Amino acid sequence: MSASVKLTSLTTKGGCGCKISPDALSSVLKNLPRPGQDDPRLLVGVETSDDAGVYQLTDELAIVQTLDFFTPIVDDPYWFGQIAAANALSDVFAMGGTPITALNIVGFPISKLDPAILTEILRGAADKVAEAGAALVGGHSIDDQEPKFGLSVTGTIHPSRILTNAGAKPGDVLILTKPIGVGIQTTAIKRDALTPEATQTVMSVMATLNKQAAQCMLAFPVNACTDVTGFGLLGHALEMAEGSSVGIRLHTANVPILPGTRDLAERGIVPGGSKSNFRWVADRVRFPEEMAEIDRLILCDAVTSGGLLISLPANEAEGLLASLHQHGVEWARIIADVTADHPGTIVVE
Ligand code: CO
Ligand code: CO
Ligand code: CO
Repeated sequence: MSASVKLTSLTTKGGCGCKISPDALSSVLKNLPRPGQDDPRLLVGVETSDDAGVYQLTDELAIVQTLDFFTPIVDDPYWFGQIAAANALSDVFAMGGTPITALNIVGFPISKLDPAILTEILRGAADKVAEAGAALVGGHSIDDQEPKFGLSVTGTIHPSRILTNAGAKPGDVLILTKPIGVGIQTTAIKRDALTPEATQTVMSVMATLNKQAAQCMLAFPVNACTDVTGFGLLGHALEMAEGSSVGIRLHTANVPILPGTRDLAERGIVPGGSKSNFRWVADRVRFPEEMAEIDRLILCDAVTSGGLLISLPANEAEGLLASLHQHGVEWARIIADVTADHPGTIVVE
């Protein structure tokens, strides 16, 4: 449908649709009031680096709230809708919550683009919301220069069973449930440099809900979880190391990476966001001296709708890994050890 429109080329010049860098954001947010932060019912607020907030309603019930939206990262509108929805739902799954309602967030150049494209975006999102088991309850749209789409999602969770990035313990290992390389591959889509097969693979990976992975995870004594998104694997792992006051030893050879990622990076196809992630983590990550800069960048590559990064005791890890593989989460790998040494930093091996 509408094959003449290349959605990823519609992003206005200067804006990349990626998130504002943590450095820039922290200076913006620094002196702002934070209403409600003293409210004991606010279980997870803006203090930690988690992407969702949790507010307790009763002894047994809390709500999880999150939202995410971005400009097109793939050209097919139906897939874009699915991916944006899977990405927005992910923070609820990462906390161990159950999404219950979702609202569409839409920016669309309605006079310039075929409205059927928007229908396809919304259809993709609706299919993912249905798969997540949540209800689509509304939304808001504006006439915009460039398409933007995402969801605001509300979920439920038991107040004593909230997973954040702050609970990792020495003796844990980390499991990652989806491959990295997504930022590099989607940049290649934008530049018409990705094969149809590779395009299909990266779209399927991004559109996969973290629902199944979360369900597997909840049957195990997990200490911490986050999802890997815009700050890249090392960025989100560092937030976990800092939030949990632990060190992380990453086994690069075990990290699942989308096939062809390195070749693309060697051709200079690396998004700006991944380079700024690299600069942001550099002073807290020790890379092996012999490791090529390209491989360092890949570990920092900005991800959209990435997998869960799960911290659990080492003796439970093979069990969870087997359960993940059994339930179709085939990319899942044990990628790191959690240590008491070098808290707040990562040693890459
Ligand atoms: Co998010
Ligand atoms: Co409105
Ligand atoms: Co997240």
